[in-house]
Amino acid sequence: MLIIQKNSYEEISTLAAKIIAQKIKNKPNLVLGLATGSTPLGLYKALINMHKNEGLDFSKITTFNLDEYIGLPQTHNQSYYYFMHENFFNHINISKRLINIPDGMSEKHDIACNQYEDKIRHAGGIDFQILGIGSNGHIAFNEPGSSLNSRTRVKPLSKKTIKDNSRFFNSIDEVPTKSITMGIGTIMSSQEILLIANGLNKAEIIKSCIEGPISAMCPASILQMHRKVTVLLDKDAASKLTLEIES
Ligand code: GLP
Repeated sequence: MLIIQKNSYEEISTLAAKIIAQKIKNKPNLVLGLATGSTPLGLYKALINMHKNEGLDFSKITTFNLDEYIGLPQTHNQSYYYFMHENFFNHINISKRLINIPDGMSEKHDIACNQYEDKIRHAGGIDFQILGIGSNGHIAFNEPGSSLNSRTRVKPLSKKTIKDNSRFFNSIDEVPTKSITMGIGTIMSSQEILLIANGLNKAEIIKSCIEGPISAMCPASILQMHRKVTVLLDKDAASKLTLEIES
């Protein structure tokens, strides 16, 4: 694992965007795994600016989002479909047919999950996966206790995640209780992974993820087994680490 610490959220967002821009320049048809949540918002903003000001070309990339709530239509302002279009896709020259997001409204979820795995395989696998981390150590919606070898499937959300994510809804009762999520095995099959985290509320879980034992109780800890992971942290998120860190 390469751990990089920067002073601020702005700095980690800019550096993450630079890393991704370079990947796209090296491979214009990059297969990019994308995350939602508040953490990657700064990164998406920086990439949009690079598109507008420097002509960064997204026209050939294929994207796969990590997860989606079950039961929210694409038009719901908290669906990840809506989030991704609002905060990223509508502002860049991505080809709409190369965007992939799990369908939280499908009638047969199991089939939809297998098809999602097939699509990833047909695209040649994910070259570069962006990840955030939940305060309970989840990656995508792989909650504590998830199989470390899992593939895309339906997962119930933990009470902690429902509470954390209720800040985006009018009330906690509106938060969906289930999701479709890439599995931990799916994520681990990516060629390269970039995990970003900021803020003091992530410090404890970042310590467990990087310095703790590998355990299904902290799903992000499996990243210790991946051969090419970069963890990009602001000062606060890195504050509980005992490792010496590059900055
Ligand atoms: C959400 C998403 C995750 C994300 C995490 C952290 O529930 N499913 O992919 O990494 O929670 O969110 P935030 O970045 O808002 O802290």
